[in-house]
Amino acid sequence: MKSLDIAKSPDPGWTRPAWREALDRWWDRLLTSERFYRWSVSNPLTRWITQRRSRQVFDLMAGFVYSQILLACVRLGIFQRVQEQPQTLRSLAQHTDIGEAALQRLLDSAVALRLLTLRGDQRYGLGPLGAPVAAFPGIQAMIEHHATLYQDMQDPVALLRDALVSPQMNGYWPYVSNPDVARQPQAPQERFQRYSNLMSASQPFVVDEILSAYAFDDHQRVLDVGGGQGTFLSRLAHHAPHLQLHLFDLPPVVQLAEQNFARQGLSARTQTSGGSFLTDALPPGADLVTLIRVAHDHPDHHVLTVLKSIYRALPAGGTLLLAEPMAQEGGRQPQGDAYFHFYLLAMGSGRLRTPHELSTLMQQAGFCMIETVPTQIPLHAQILLGRKSKCLP
Ligand SMILES: C[S@@+](CC[C@H](N)C(=O)[O-])C[C@H]1O[C@@H](n2cnc3c(N)ncnc32)[C@H](O)[C@@H]1O
Repeated sequence: MKSLDIAKSPDPGWTRPAWREALDRWWDRLLTSERFYRWSVSNPLTRWITQRRSRQVFDLMAGFVYSQILLACVRLGIFQRVQEQPQTLRSLAQHTDIGEAALQRLLDSAVALRLLTLRGDQRYGLGPLGAPVAAFPGIQAMIEHHATLYQDMQDPVALLRDALVSPQMNGYWPYVSNPDVARQPQAPQERFQRYSNLMSASQPFVVDEILSAYAFDDHQRVLDVGGGQGTFLSRLAHHAPHLQLHLFDLPPVVQLAEQNFARQGLSARTQTSGGSFLTDALPPGADLVTLIRVAHDHPDHHVLTVLKSIYRALPAGGTLLLAEPMAQEGGRQPQGDAYFHFYLLAMGSGRLRTPHELSTLMQQAGFCMIETVPTQIPLHAQILLGRKSKCLP
């Protein structure tokens, strides 16, 4: 049985005034009334609102079909092919070994979803939404990986009841089902490699957000906790050549990071330490610790353990930079929230937290002067900074 934390309401005493409650109920009745629907589509002033809502409901209903069309295009290498040059149905049928009639349905669906466009002479080219998929291997890797997630999501009620017959996502992340797995002599190296490759492929978007939002000039030494194969530190090494770099992760992952640093000629500037941040002390010496896409994988009490350990490892005046996707608060577009809530549910550990919840955990661990750093695309990651006070106790 999974043990999941419950998110606490930031304002448990919040109630709506009675008049607002009555208004909401009247509005619900109106929106669910067939007469009102007919009136609103026949009225030229309101029709666009009803049309837009109908499209939105249709998209919700059809979302799985859209995702599978995207997956088919990725698996068949269609984006790469049309990126080289626009292709006819016949040439794509030869390339994919799929009959023209069936493939035409896929390609026309992809055009409808703006993944492809028609380019004249009955050729298909990249569409505005297919272009980023073609350009970024990390998006393709995540689309492939979603095949695993969607197996668990085929029965969302069983997933919610923790009653899936053969859950897939939980096994994909070995440290989730067994935090001690990396210590076992038979640690499944290929499973650590598989998720580390995926993380490395999908990390560039997050790294871009961090490098464009935070100035590293005043730091000397950075420790990346849960740093995976070292993709962030490798980029940081080029971005800020004055920095010394240290990576901490589970021992099988650290091996991969060392190979990566050696391949890039970064061994002299980087140090690695293997261990578990739940049981081992973190190496001291860094004046900045980064924690990127780690907290959301873990329950609150584990996050608190890691944060306290980071606090102990930092010198007075040291900084923690925590970056990951966070739940939207304050009425902003909650884009991405539904995805991450269910991704982490299927994974079986952790949860998407608001910046407020993470700040509270950071405060409990001892950090002060906690601030949010604005990012360009919050869907990729939001950033929190916390400091270890220089004040004497
Ligand atoms: C979701 S991945 C993120 C990796 C990287 N920071 C990124 O953004 O791509 C979480 C990382 O935390 C590491 N991790 C999980 N549990 C750990 C533990 N108990 N001790 C040390 N590292 C751990 C995993 O091996 C993995 O590299």
